[in-house]
Amino acid sequence: MTQVWRAEPAGAGHQEAVEAAARLLKEGGRVAFPTETVYGLGADARSTEAVEGIFAAKGRPSDNPLIVHIADRAQLGEIVAGVDELSARLMDAFWPGPLTLVLPVKPGALSPRVTAGLATVGVRMPDHPLALALIRVAGCPVAAPSANRSGRPSPTRAEHVLDDLNGVIEGVLDGGPTGVGVESTVVEAAGGAVHVLRPGGVSAEALERFAPVAGAGPDGEPGAPGGEDALHAPKAPGMKYAHYAPRGRLAVVQGPSPEAVSSWIRQELARAKAAGERTGVLACAEHAARYDADAVIACGRLGDPGSAARGLYDALRGFDEAGVTFILAEAVEESGIGAAVMNRLRKAAGGRVIRL
Ligand code: TXA
Ligand code: MG
Repeated sequence: MTQVWRAEPAGAGHQEAVEAAARLLKEGGRVAFPTETVYGLGADARSTEAVEGIFAAKGRPSDNPLIVHIADRAQLGEIVAGVDELSARLMDAFWPGPLTLVLPVKPGALSPRVTAGLATVGVRMPDHPLALALIRVAGCPVAAPSANRSGRPSPTRAEHVLDDLNGVIEGVLDGGPTGVGVESTVVEAAGGAVHVLRPGGVSAEALERFAPVAGAGPDGEPGAPGGEDALHAPKAPGMKYAHYAPRGRLAVVQGPSPEAVSSWIRQELARAKAAGERTGVLACAEHAARYDADAVIACGRLGDPGSAARGLYDALRGFDEAGVTFILAEAVEESGIGAAVMNRLRKAAGGRVIRL
């Protein structure tokens, strides 16, 4: 049985829901909870048994380490062996918020399953009142990957969590839709630079105000500046797996102008239909009416990558509900959080990017 507590952050019943969920965590259970990015699947990061339960529920490869969530800077001392000066400045600037810092782990502080045997741990302080309250009341560092089955789009609503994990995990704290919509940016400070291991809610442009950003092309993909190395030896182990993928075959279309992209997509849709495919299109709201497909899903507005980020995972799951077999997605402008949106789209497409 998966217990579900409705707990809109400002609503009544918030405190009782948090206390019940925290009790489950303390007993070694797995509780999904909202953060500002996506829903996380939490467990006590000190307990190997609890953490193994996360891997089992997700079907997650055991060499992919988990992010540890804290509610308070004071909690850091229990987890990490030290904080360098640049990491401390990034925490001052971005915590609570969608930035995960990779730091040296304090030996013996966490289950070795959390770090997958690495000498480092990814830590973040989420910017969500329910997440912070849950971590505080549970009184432990909370290991939490995204609360989806491994390989599926990350959950941005409690319903997404239940679609994947109902009956498998002990509880879900339902705080409504998340705000940012894509996961945190994972970084490591080294040699005076910020190395981006996974692009996310904090943009490279925002990080650049603090230090030079390395690998900000940014995500170890073919064609990205400095991407080749990261592609073959990803530093965030999770980046090497297929991710976020809808069941239909997806390709991302990039072109010299929105009109060129639209007319190519229209042509390809006609061809795919003739071949018996059930077709889908992922387009910005302004372009959705241009397409004739079995499922046209609008995601975000032109020139507003933040709105695309908020709607992306819900849209990718929507294609599965529509049962489409062939999906074309308009590329999103790669500035700000648009870099994270394109990173996820490319992964969902298994690297199939069509450049006109
Ligand atoms: O926004 C987020 O980050 C969400 C919410 C729930 O906080 N969490 C999340 O966790 O996305 P997950 O497990 O789906 O992704 C964690 C990423 C993976 O790519 C993993 O390889 C990387 O962070 N990571 C974790 N610990 C690391 C470490 N010590 N060194 C390098 N990469 C690490
Ligand atoms: Mg994930």
